[in-house]
Amino acid sequence: MKILITGGAGFLGLRLARRILDRGAVAGPDGQPREVTRIVLADMANAPIEDPRVTSLVGDIADPAFVDAALGGDCASVFHLAAVVSGQAEADFDLGLRVNLDATRLLLEACRRLPRPPRLVFTSSVAVFGGALPTPVPETWILNPQNSYGTQKAIGELLVNDHSRKGFIDGRAVRLPTISVRPGRPNKAASSFASGIIREPLAGEIATCPVPPHTPIWLSSPRTAIAHLLQAHDAPAGAFGTGRSLNTPGLTVTAGEMVATLERVAGREVASRVRWEPDEAVAGIVMRWPDRLETVRAEAMGMRPEPDFESIVRAYLAGE
Ligand SMILES: NC(=O)c1ccc[n+]([C@@H]2O[C@H](COP(=O)([O-])OP(=O)(O)OC[C@H]3O[C@@H](n4cnc5c(N)ncnc54)[C@H](O)[C@@H]3O)[C@@H](O)[C@H]2O)c1
Repeated sequence: MKILITGGAGFLGLRLARRILDRGAVAGPDGQPREVTRIVLADMANAPIEDPRVTSLVGDIADPAFVDAALGGDCASVFHLAAVVSGQAEADFDLGLRVNLDATRLLLEACRRLPRPPRLVFTSSVAVFGGALPTPVPETWILNPQNSYGTQKAIGELLVNDHSRKGFIDGRAVRLPTISVRPGRPNKAASSFASGIIREPLAGEIATCPVPPHTPIWLSSPRTAIAHLLQAHDAPAGAFGTGRSLNTPGLTVTAGEMVATLERVAGREVASRVRWEPDEAVAGIVMRWPDRLETVRAEAMGMRPEPDFESIVRAYLAGE
């Protein structure tokens, strides 16, 4: 069967593709494991994967011709990851709307034209919640995003839900926690520091933390996030009940606890490379995000968080 991953050259997209290639199979339309014969990675960037099953398509996901070419007439599953991240969507309102909302709508419309409704996993975010929040945030809590990225993800969730209700797709919107530790360089996500305060000190560089140490963050490791995307994909539609949006398990860790963990794992000198310099713009976004979500349905599907943040840091050091 053929799978499309939009944003397939990105951080999670590449890892997801590699994981699917390793597994060799995912749930087919009937829920039974099906061999994956082709993965199309659609992105603005070329995806560096050498595998005969992989095709990398470079283009703009907001371009209808590109979406049609990527989907083809025979796609059984779609993972829709292409997006501009929170800080960028906030700084460039039009770009956020075009990539995060218009392209999602285009993709859903194109899926609707396929001969058979595909499974579709949409990567949403905890940023769909906001305002005065209970802890943990119930799965059915009102969507009240406090920034443009969260608003675009919330609309995407509703569209995935309605297209599923109509039988156009078999959709699942997965509210991923902030992912840490992300390798590479800082990105334009407001939560970029949640990786930077671990990654940069370990690389011998100074890192700046823009939120106070007591700020709690709802976190997942990359490997857990990928596992949860696949579990959400493979779960039967009936496991979602009346709504297709899913809170996935994470850990609540404060920025201060993250740096204390770094000190425990890598020593005091490494941890001393973190500078605490509050940035109101970043803190204004991050401190409005929920710090703990109810994840009853995801747990019933077998999803589990990492045991603790130290396991996440050690996995990063081990190169996972
Ligand atoms: N990483 C996290 O902490 C996190 C948390 C919650 C949700 N998410 C969501 O998960 C998804 C993947 O996140 P990521 O961390 O891999 O982000 P990423 O920025 O690494 O990947 C996104 C990819 O989308 C591509 N893209 C952007 N605009 C495009 C366009 N117009 N046409 C084609 N491709 C385009 C980018 O080139 C990039 O490769 C996103 O939808 C993101 O909103 C991520």
